[in-house]
Amino acid sequence: MAEQPLLQACRVHKTYRFGAHGVEVLRGVDLAVHSGEWLAVLGSSGSGKSTLMHLLGGLDRPDAGKGEIRFRGEPLSLQPGSALDTYRNRDIGFVFQFYHLLPELSVLENTLLPALVFGARAKRRTALRRDAEALLGAFGLDHRLTHRPSQLSGGERQRVAIARALINRPAVLLADEPTGNLDATTGAGILDLLAERHKQGLTIVMVTHDREVAARATRQVHLTNGTSDSAAAQ
Ligand SMILES: Nc1ncnc2c1ncn2[C@@H]1O[C@H](COP(=O)(O)OP(=O)(O)OP(=O)(O)O)[C@@H](O)[C@H]1O
Ligand SMILES: [Mg+2]
Repeated sequence: MAEQPLLQACRVHKTYRFGAHGVEVLRGVDLAVHSGEWLAVLGSSGSGKSTLMHLLGGLDRPDAGKGEIRFRGEPLSLQPGSALDTYRNRDIGFVFQFYHLLPELSVLENTLLPALVFGARAKRRTALRRDAEALLGAFGLDHRLTHRPSQLSGGERQRVAIARALINRPAVLLADEPTGNLDATTGAGILDLLAERHKQGLTIVMVTHDREVAARATRQVHLTNGTSDSAAAQ
């Protein structure tokens, strides 16, 4: 029997409604992400890549009764609210094109934020701080711990965003155009960092419209006309 996918979209539909009108962006998308994969999701602008990522990350829901997202075989729709919060916070790490760091917090505080959402005792806080410093150190940011995001370059900001996404040791990293706002060299640095984490076992789903970026993944999926097809990467 084939191994159960870690994360799955099953016949997912998503419609955005504007009053009486609706635009069906996803029309029965099937996607299976296996543990240890690095999947690239390709598609033209407006094809629904970000929409799909939001559904996979539990930030939004498919149309009622029209498909489901499953994590370790369990439909997200059957989880109570608290389990969904845990899913978003612990099982998934999310990285966005424009970093979404909090401007008033330092690099270290931004990184620690998801770990402190549910509160933590002093001893755990000390351990988490060490984890965050180790992550940021591995990403070449040891001299930037007390800086604010506004004092960093784009590449540095994205590295902080990735550290933040990894602080809770998620099973899957969802990265929506993680290099979309960076020059080619800086973007390649970010991809090297993702490759390193992938080698250590992290499962990654990465959206991009850039074929060279997609080539770094182990498999590619194309979104066209609201449905998906897949092909193994070269
Ligand atoms: N919250 C929303 N409300 C209404 N329409 C939306 C919403 N989010 C996305 N859309 C529409 O859904 C379609 C798909 O958007 P989406 O952002 O998923 O595309 P994308 O593939 O990520 O595009 P890009 O490459 O430009 O980021 C677009 O036509 C967009 O206008
Ligand atoms: Mg998008």
